[in-house]
Amino acid sequence: MAQTTTYVCGQCGQSHKKWSGKCAGCGAWNSLSEEVGIATAPAGRGAKKVQGQQVELTSLVGNMAETQRTSTGIAELDRVLGGGTAQGATILIGGDPGVGKSTLLLQTAAGLANKGRNVIYITGEESPAQVRLRAVRLQLANAPVKIATETNVANICKTIAKEKPNLLVIDSIQTMWSPALESAPGTVSQLRLATQDLIHAAKANNTTLILVGHVTKDGQIAGPRVLEHMVDTVIYFESERGDHLRILRTVKNRFGAAHEIGVFEMQTQGLMEVPNPSSIFLEAHDNSNTGGTAIFAAIEGTRPLLVEVQALAAPSSLAIPRRAVVGWNQNRLSMVLAVLEARGGISFAGRDVFLNIAGGLNITEPAADLAVAAALISSINECALPPNSVIFGEISLSGSIRPVVQTDVRLKEAQRLGFDYALTATAKKGETQPDAITPIRDVGELIATIHND
Ligand code: TYD
Ligand code: MG
Repeated sequence: MAQTTTYVCGQCGQSHKKWSGKCAGCGAWNSLSEEVGIATAPAGRGAKKVQGQQVELTSLVGNMAETQRTSTGIAELDRVLGGGTAQGATILIGGDPGVGKSTLLLQTAAGLANKGRNVIYITGEESPAQVRLRAVRLQLANAPVKIATETNVANICKTIAKEKPNLLVIDSIQTMWSPALESAPGTVSQLRLATQDLIHAAKANNTTLILVGHVTKDGQIAGPRVLEHMVDTVIYFESERGDHLRILRTVKNRFGAAHEIGVFEMQTQGLMEVPNPSSIFLEAHDNSNTGGTAIFAAIEGTRPLLVEVQALAAPSSLAIPRRAVVGWNQNRLSMVLAVLEARGGISFAGRDVFLNIAGGLNITEPAADLAVAAALISSINECALPPNSVIFGEISLSGSIRPVVQTDVRLKEAQRLGFDYALTATAKKGETQPDAITPIRDVGELIATIHND
């Protein structure tokens, strides 16, 4: 067996025999790093055959041990995890530098430690003094969290086996390295091996493992997705408005629903939960209603949310008018504009169109179509929408409005916040239409409803 040197792309994971400035696999520049491995003898004559053993098979029916969950004491985090941390689960949390990952995890660690759990916080980036400083700032300095600065995975695994902690936080996985490999920390093979070793040790000792992951400049967790496949739960921590609001978003969860969100506010004493985010997103909403705004009743994961959709269609001096979108999909805006023009007879030619989701949330649901269309119509015709109303529904290319899921949940959240009426698609066959709903069949009806008001 000989030592081999390969060059692995940090973006796509493809390995190359020679170094080059550009990865032939994905075209990324300067992404190859050297990795040293042991080449195994090729299969064929002379190769030793490894004898396997038959695997014991079982059935779906059987004793099901209930997953033991522990509340982190932070309700917004519990919600995102699917009801607390599951025993033995591995959670990866990614986010931009400075978004508050270390702060959130220190708060979580301190909360659990205060409840008598054995919690270890290992940092590869900061000194214990820096962590202590943060703890003082968060007023958590008395929590019995055990901290250490360490980057060697072998030492950490040994510590897990001895201490058997309930929770282990690794801040961050990119700084960890395994002595079994010669490549530098942060390279693909180091990441893979270090994570594998940590997960193995944590599962063997029923430890919940939380890994902090760095993100690349386009917002993905650094490393070619290997980490995301290996762990049970992937969470992104985002700062969408660029100020104090922080949003936790589950991307993958083997122990609960994905696409769940948790909302926090960064304050001087650390991250504060925002249990009622609709109120923040509607903070500046004026119910006397000027033209160009519509309240969309959204569903993020399992959580209903009210957000304000703002549109402005202003006369343009450009040959090709601008179409600018913040918080929604540019292509969907083009589609809604085209449908309004073709099926509703409203022309946006010669106008710049701006669309903004207030509060900085990113909306992906097609259910927002109707709210966007309503805001656009209201802006171009300078008429207000019916007061105290929320709007949701998907627009098809024919101009008809399609019903969306969880109408009742959306209505309930709307009513809780004082929006008693809703404009949405007519109910599906066999379902009764609640009195609060003004049914809209197509964009023509939407335009008529807005005008009549
Ligand atoms: P941090 O948790 O270190 O971010 P990350 O680990 O994701 O890189 O958070 C750093 C930012 O949070 C920093 O800009 C200061 C701010 N912050 C507060 O506003 N209040 C606080 O109590 C703390 C601890 C940090
Ligand atoms: Mg940090």
